[in-house]
Amino acid sequence: MKFENLQELFLHEIKDLYDAEHQIVKALPKMKKAATSPDLQDAFQEHLGQTEEHIKRLEKVFESIDQKPKRETCPAMKGLIAEGSETIEENKKSYALDAALIASAQRVEHYEIAGYGTVRTYAQLLGYDIAVDLLQATLDEEGDTNKKLTALAEEINTEAV
Ligand SMILES: [Fe+2]
Repeated sequence: MKFENLQELFLHEIKDLYDAEHQIVKALPKMKKAATSPDLQDAFQEHLGQTEEHIKRLEKVFESIDQKPKRETCPAMKGLIAEGSETIEENKKSYALDAALIASAQRVEHYEIAGYGTVRTYAQLLGYDIAVDLLQATLDEEGDTNKKLTALAEEINTEAV
């Protein structure tokens, strides 16, 4: 990736997030299927709906700065998801696998929180007001999801002991 100023770096970062969100949409149904806890299944289902919304918000961000939505492969998200898939393939359904699924999902959330926090701050500096609001809305949802996963982990980890 090449960039010469914060505008170009911003564009690169939102293309990366746009790709990451698409990867997550593909991964979540598999995670839901692998989960034992009905609460965890529901959490993955709910986050799938939110993630589809995150994609639409990013499209509005592109539009707000007169750019076409474009994906730039996010190798970090590929790695996170590959690790999760391996865990699913190697293990039978159990609360221990649920605990591992949460660990994997929280890594994804933290990646997104870092990414959205960064681009929200760039957008503030660049005066991209529409983008700031859109990115903040997604950032808030990723934060809520992460907290929800922490609460679920407290129950599920105990079941897994
Ligand atoms: Fe997201």
